[in-house]
Amino acid sequence: MDLKKMVGIEAAKSVQTGMIVGLGTGSTAFYMVEEVGRRIKEENLKIVGVTTSKKTEAQAIELGIPLKSIDEVPYVDLTIDGADEISSDFHGIKGGGAALLFEKIVASYSKEIIWIVDASKMVKQLGKFPLPVEVVPYGSQQLLRLFEEKEMHPVLRKNLTNDKTLVTDGGHYIIDLHLDSIPDPLALGTWLDSTVGVVEHGLFLSMVNKVIVGYNDGPKILEVK
Ligand code: A5P
Repeated sequence: MDLKKMVGIEAAKSVQTGMIVGLGTGSTAFYMVEEVGRRIKEENLKIVGVTTSKKTEAQAIELGIPLKSIDEVPYVDLTIDGADEISSDFHGIKGGGAALLFEKIVASYSKEIIWIVDASKMVKQLGKFPLPVEVVPYGSQQLLRLFEEKEMHPVLRKNLTNDKTLVTDGGHYIIDLHLDSIPDPLALGTWLDSTVGVVEHGLFLSMVNKVIVGYNDGPKILEVK
């Protein structure tokens, strides 16, 4: 079975009736959302979903998953989402699918967070995957210059389908920093947090409670202490 599908289905087992569930974004979270939809139809599972992107929202509506916005719920019981890289100390990079801002907002109000990844995303140190930084369009060229000066190798993200600058669900741009390695994610995250024009970045530090990793011989569940 496809590893992304395997972990998506495995993670959906943690969803229980009565929960408010954060529904992540991306090609791995896709399978989890499909499985939650199947369980609603076939197993009488009763939940409320909170989506992290317009794409996941459309999928959830299609599947008949009842939805509320993050502002309509007091908190989220469990969020299941993908990740682009997870370090050995369980920090993560997210945002490869451009949904990092809404993903981080939903994660911030979640009691439990599960990440689902295939084994290739488990790394010793973060940084081979370009770090997405969501920025306000106004002044974004200045930010590109600033990141360039700091030798962070910034690239303004474009749509896959055309040459236009990608605009996120929140109406912002994404600058990907090709850093190669991030020896101190906390320091980098703090600096980005304090940089004017940066709305959010893809470093998700000390946020995850459980990681489900897909291997050819089955899923492995890693509890984060
Ligand atoms: C979306 O912005 C991301 O944070 C995704 O969760 C992440 O990029 C993983 O996506 P895939 O499961 O498609 O690799």
